[in-house]
Amino acid sequence: MTPEGIRAIRGMHDVLPDRVALWQRLELISQQVLSGYGYQEIRTPILELTGLFARSIGEVTDIVEKEMFSFTDRNGESLTLRPEGTACCLRAAIEHGLLQQTRRLWYRGPMFRHERPQKGRYRQFHQVGVEAFGFPGTDIEIELLLLTRRLWTGLGITGLRLEINSLGLPEERAGFREALTAYLRRHHEALDEDSQRRLEQNPLRVLDSKNPALAGILAGAPVLADFLGDDSRGRFSELLAGLDHLDLPYQINPRLVRGLDYYAGLVFEWTTDRLGAQATVCAGGRYDRLAEQLGGPAVPAVGFAFGVERLLLLMEEGGTLPDPAEADLYLILGGERLRQAGLGMAERLRDALPGVRLLTHCGAGSFKGQFKKADRSGARYALILGDDEWARGTLGIKPLRETGEQRELSFEETVAFLAKVFGGDSANGTRDF
Ligand code: HAM
Repeated sequence: MTPEGIRAIRGMHDVLPDRVALWQRLELISQQVLSGYGYQEIRTPILELTGLFARSIGEVTDIVEKEMFSFTDRNGESLTLRPEGTACCLRAAIEHGLLQQTRRLWYRGPMFRHERPQKGRYRQFHQVGVEAFGFPGTDIEIELLLLTRRLWTGLGITGLRLEINSLGLPEERAGFREALTAYLRRHHEALDEDSQRRLEQNPLRVLDSKNPALAGILAGAPVLADFLGDDSRGRFSELLAGLDHLDLPYQINPRLVRGLDYYAGLVFEWTTDRLGAQATVCAGGRYDRLAEQLGGPAVPAVGFAFGVERLLLLMEEGGTLPDPAEADLYLILGGERLRQAGLGMAERLRDALPGVRLLTHCGAGSFKGQFKKADRSGARYALILGDDEWARGTLGIKPLRETGEQRELSFEETVAFLAKVFGGDSANGTRDF
C-alpha cells in the first residue's frame, strides 16, 4: 500500500528484484555481442535542449508534436527528456570532435515518450542503440543487420521478421511525396481522421497507418521505389545481394517509412506477431544528412535501436525465466559468538569463489529459523558454522534443493566442492538461469 498520491507515474515502471536478473541477462548478452563487433559504449545525459529533437526527429512527427516530456527550466531554457538516443549520440559526437574518424558507438538507457501505455508500450522505456559514423557503404549496413541477428540468437529469440525498404534521397522523396499527396487527396473522404491530418502535415506517415479499412486505398498508392534514381536503386540491390549472400532472410516492405524524419536510404524494422500492436522490436536506418543538419561535419551515419521491454517479453514467452534465487549459498551461524567469525568466513569464501552469491545470516535466530530462511532464499546449499565446526576448522554443508545428508568438510574441501558445483560459469558472470 502506498500513501495516497504517492505512486509511480502512469506508463513508468519499477523493475523489481525478481525481474532484474532477466534485464541483466539481456544487458550482458547485448554488451558482449556489441563489443564483438568493435562497438564502444557512450553515455549521454537524459535531458537535452528541446531544439535538438525538433531539429533532428522533425517538427511534424508524432514524437515532437505530442509525445515529448518537455519543460522550461529555471534559466528559461526548454529542456526535454530524451525520446530516443540517435540525436543525443550524434550531438555528443559532434561536440567532442569524435567524427574526425570512423566510429562505432552504442548506448543504452531510458527514453521517454508520452504515448498511450499498453502492453509493450510505455512512457519510460529502455533502448539499446547502435550508431556507426563515417561509413558510407552497404558493407556497414549488412554488418549491422548481421549484428542484430546475432543478438536475437544470443537472447534465444526466434521468429522475428526483418522488413526493409529504401527511402532514397530527400530530393527523390519530394517527387514521391507530391504524387502520394495528390493520390491521397483524391481519396480524402475515405481516409480516417488521423490519416487526414497526416496527409496535410506529413503524407508519408499515412502509409504507416495500421487501420485495416485503409488497406485497399494504400495498396493502390504510388510506390516510393518508382521514384528512386539509379544510384539509390543500385545501392539497395547491392544491399539485398549482400543479405542473400549471407543467408539473412528479409521482406521488402515498400510502405515502411518510419516515424522519424532523419532517415534517407536504408530503413528497416525487426517485427514479431507475438506482441499485438507493438510489433516492432528493433528499428533503424541510414541518416547521412543529420550531422550536418545539427551543425556538424557531413558524416554518413547508420544505426538502430531495440526496445528492451519488448525483447524481454519475447524472452519470457520463449521460456527464459528470471532466476528466482537470491543466492547460491546461505551461511548459517551457531549463535551470537560466531557472528564476527561468520562474516570473516564469508569473506574467505568470496575470495575463493568469485561470482558465487553468498548470503550470510545476519541477526539472531535458531538453527531451525535460519534453515527456513536459507530455504526461502533459493540457495542451493546451506553452509553451517557452529561451535563444533569452528573448533575443528571445518564447515557443515547441506544440499537444500536435492536430498542429501549434511556433511562436514575442511575449508579447502568446501571450496573445491563448490568450485566444481558452480563451475566457471558463475565465476565469469555468465550464470545459467
Ligand atoms: P524508434 O523506432 O522510435 O527508433 O524506436 C526503436 C525501438 O524502441 C522500437 O522499435 C521499439 O522497440 C522501442 N520503443 C519505441 N517506443 C517505445 C515505447 N513507447 N515503449 C516501449 N518501447 C518503445 C528510434 O528511436 C531510433 N533512434 C532508432 C535508430 C537508431 N535509428 C538510427 N539509429
